[in-house]
Amino acid sequence: MLLDTTAVNQQRNFFSDHDDLWLFGYGSLIWKADFAYLERQPAYITGWARRFWQASHDHRGTLEAPGRVATLIPAPGAVCHGMAYRITPDVLAPLDVREKNGYLREKVPLTFIDETGRANGQSEGLIYLASEDNPAFLGDAPLDVIARQIANAHGPSGSNREYLVNLAQALRDLGAEDAHIFELEKQLV
Ligand code: BEZ
Repeated sequence: MLLDTTAVNQQRNFFSDHDDLWLFGYGSLIWKADFAYLERQPAYITGWARRFWQASHDHRGTLEAPGRVATLIPAPGAVCHGMAYRITPDVLAPLDVREKNGYLREKVPLTFIDETGRANGQSEGLIYLASEDNPAFLGDAPLDVIARQIANAHGPSGSNREYLVNLAQALRDLGAEDAHIFELEKQLV
């Protein structure tokens, strides 16, 4: 493993005085919520763009043949759609372990979306973010190169292809636009 962020995250107690908090999922958490939650609601964050720029050595790839998974990069004016889950704070510890390869807890403003697709309220929320200074950050590459890497990678959590296809489908189900994700999906061979 290149880096273990578990201990750092357990100090990042932005909501320690809260009985519950909103966790915003923009990657696998949209379609794979294998944790207990009190409620969930489609939501978006602004100023961030979803990109397949983070290596996965432990879930959707291996140390020898890393996959690529989603992170967020700062992008003024961008809107990133996902799913917000209201959880109790104890839910975070297993997620810190699952996402230990470079992701850090960050606090962000969330906007909720109602059944008609309209903005309907705001709250502070938590995301897991892999920024460019973590050792597993790969950064940009031509889309066909990223798609080929994804098409060929497999890890203990399954194929990297499945991660991308499930994410694209979950975004369609939400009625969300994401050119990077849909173009990558098209280029999967
Ligand atoms: C998410 O789906 O929001 C997520 C992405 C990367 C790490 C942890 C969670």
